[in-house]
Order: sequence, then structure tokens, then C-alpha cells
Amino acid sequence: MSLSWPFSGLRQGGAKSRLIFALDVGSLREAEQLVRSLVREIGLFKIGKQLFLHAGPPVVRMVREKGGEVFLDLKFHDIPRTVAKAAAEATRMGVRMFDLHASGSLAMMQQTVTEVNRICRNEQLRRPKILAVTVLTSLTREDLRRLGVQAGVESQVVRLAKLAREASMDGVVASPLEIARIRKDCGRGFLIVTPGVRSAKTTWDDQKRVLTPEQAIAAGADYIVVGKPIRDAKDPSAAAREIVMEMERGGAGLRTKARGES
Ligand code: C5P
Repeated sequence: MSLSWPFSGLRQGGAKSRLIFALDVGSLREAEQLVRSLVREIGLFKIGKQLFLHAGPPVVRMVREKGGEVFLDLKFHDIPRTVAKAAAEATRMGVRMFDLHASGSLAMMQQTVTEVNRICRNEQLRRPKILAVTVLTSLTREDLRRLGVQAGVESQVVRLAKLAREASMDGVVASPLEIARIRKDCGRGFLIVTPGVRSAKTTWDDQKRVLTPEQAIAAGADYIVVGKPIRDAKDPSAAAREIVMEMERGGAGLRTKARGES
């Protein structure tokens, strides 16, 4: 059997390359301190709107110069040409992955994929993974209804994930509770990046619908995103190492299952 998702990733780069740390801070200096202390334990750093609007492209360069990879989490949503051109700039910056809203339409996603492929070919750039955000985890069924969407949250998530796949997007950002369904409906080659993950050792929580790293990987996530529990830990590197270990247990469980052992 082919060892694609998730076995190859956890083998090649180890779980470390599948852990994304959310750099949710307000300055380049704070970001730099965190990257410096965590880059040995964590492969990817997520840069969102706050930090990017404050620090701009130099923050992406800083992470890359320190040996980290970047997930540029700006969640693009606009007319197709505008998103495709923004995506081209993200690609030129050398980010490893970036995202956009699937609800921006099939055409918006297709045009973005085409434009990114085109400039990667013409300018010999590394091709980033292009991810779709389906339904924001802050939205409820009632919010969707008021937006004119009659479907429940889960069916809307799956509908948009399938649309993203049809547009040849590389994957989705999905909440822990949606992993299994998306994996089943969208297949193995489709990346699932999951926030809302908390170490089994976490005793506090500000999120309601969470899985542990082991559970998230076992359910089919390729990458997990963790912010606060690492950032606020007394020893952020140790907290990151604990999460990587829990991810490895999830991957080991999957390999055992794939071999048919109990
Ligand atoms: O809560 P924590 O700091 O671990 O969140 C990490 C990142 O994932 C944050 O940037 C947050 O905005 C995002 N997140 C999300 N959906 C959730 C929970 C967190 O997109 N349900």
C-alpha cells in the first residue's frame, strides 16, 4: 500500500514538521524571540493579520532566515483576479502555505491555483500549499441561516471542502470535529490543517471543541496549529516537545491500525 498521508510526513520530517505555531503577537521583536526559542522544536510559524499588518513582509523573511517555514494566514476573499494576484505575492515571499475563503467561489480558487502554478513555473519558485477556510469556527447554524445558508455547519463545511478539492486546492483548515468527515469525503491526498488542539496535559482551556494532538493526528489531520498553550507555557520549548510527542503517538497508532494490529 502506498505510504502517502499521513505516514510519509510523520516519517520524513517527524511530527515536528507538522506542528504549526501561531505567532499571534503584535510586534516583530516578540515574534523574533519566539521563533528563536522554538525553531528547533517547530517546523512552521503561522503569521496572521495582526502581525502581518504590523510588521509586513519582513516578518516572513525573519522566520525563514531563522530556519522556519511560514503559513501566511490572511484568509483572502475578493474577486478572483485580486485574490490570484495577492496569492502570487505570497508565493514570491516564499511562504510554505497560505489560505483563502472557499466561499469566495470555485472561480476564485481555480484562478488562484492557476496563477500560482503559472508564476512558479515562470519564475522558478517553490509552490506553496494553498488551503481553503470553509466555515469559520466562530459561526453557528443560526449565523449561517442569517447569511442565507440553510445547511447545517457540518454539511456546509463538507460542501466547501469538496468545492476546494474540485478547484485543485491542496487542502483545508478545519476544526478538530470536522477532520474525520473531511478525510472520508475528500480522500487522502487532501491536506487538513487543524487548530483547536490542546495537549492532554493542559489543565485549563478557553476553547470548547478541542482534541488532543494524538487524537487530531489519529483522526486524519496532517498539521496541527497551536498558539496559546505554547506561548503562555513556563517553558515554551518543553510544551512544544510534549505536543510533538503526542502527535507521534497519534501517527504510531495510525501505522498500527494500517497494519491491522490492535
Ligand atoms: O487557541 P490557540 O492560540 O491555540 O489558537 C491557535 C490559532 O488557531 C489562533 O491563531 C487562532 O485564531 C486559530 N484558531 C482557529 N479556530 C479555532 C481555534 C483557534 O482558527 N477554533
